[in-house]
Amino acid sequence: MKKIIIAIDGHSSCGKSTMAKQLAKEIGYVYVDTGAMYRAVTLYAMRNGMYPDEGIKEEALKAAVDAGKIQISFKFNAETGRPDTYLNGEKVEDEIRQMDVSNRVSPIAALPFVRALLTEQQQAMGKEKGIVMDGRDIGTAVFPQAELKVFVTASARVRAQRRFDELMGKAQTQAERDALNYDEILKNVEERDYIDSHREVAPLRQAEDAIVLDNSQLTREEQSAWLLERYKETVAKC
Ligand code: DC
Repeated sequence: MKKIIIAIDGHSSCGKSTMAKQLAKEIGYVYVDTGAMYRAVTLYAMRNGMYPDEGIKEEALKAAVDAGKIQISFKFNAETGRPDTYLNGEKVEDEIRQMDVSNRVSPIAALPFVRALLTEQQQAMGKEKGIVMDGRDIGTAVFPQAELKVFVTASARVRAQRRFDELMGKAQTQAERDALNYDEILKNVEERDYIDSHREVAPLRQAEDAIVLDNSQLTREEQSAWLLERYKETVAKC
C-alpha cells in the first residue's frame, strides 16, 4: 500500500500526540512528536545557563546549534509503546514534560535558527514517508505536501483539565500532587496558544487543506476511530 505523510497540527494539550501515536501503531508508521524536539532544545538551554529568568541568551544558543552540540533522537520504548526522546544520548523523556520546560518552550520555538534546525531534521525523518508527525507547523511549513493534514483543537479549559489530569496521574508523591495548580496550567495553555500563533516564523495556523477536528466532546477512542477513517479515505484516493 502506498505510504503517505500524515501531519497533525493544533493547539497544545489537545490530545494530538495521543491520537497520532495510536494511529502510527495501528498502521505501522513511524511517529514523531516534534514538540518533544523543541522541549529538548529548551532543556539544553536551561541546563547550560542559556535560559536564565531574564531571558534566552540567543547568541550562546545559536553558537551551540551551529556547532552541532544539540543532538536529538528518538528510541522506541517497548514498555510504554512509544518513542522516548534523547538529548545528546541521554533519555530526557520525563524532564522535558515538566512544568519548568513547558513554561519556557514557546519563546525557544519562536527562534528562527531553532526552527530551521528542527525543520530540517523533521524533513529528513519523513523522506521515506510512512510517518505520522505532530506539531504546530507540520502541514504548513515542514510538509506542506503531506497527503493528510489534520488540525486539532479543543477549548482551553478542556485542554488545561486534560493536562492537569495527565500530570496528576504521573505525580509520584503527595508533594508533587499538591504542587499542581489548575489555574497555573490554564494560564500556561493560554500563553502558549498566544505565542505559538503570533510568532513570525511558522506560526500555528490551520493549513488551507487541513481537516479540522474539535475534540472537546470526543473520547480518545472516538478520536482514534475518526483519524483511522481519514487515513483510509486518503490512501484510497492516492
Ligand atoms: O506539543 P508540545 O506542547 O509538546 O509543544 C511544545 C512547544 O513547542 C509549544 O509551545 C509549541 C512548540 N512547537 C512548535 O512551535 N512547532 C512544532 N512543530 C511543535 C511544537
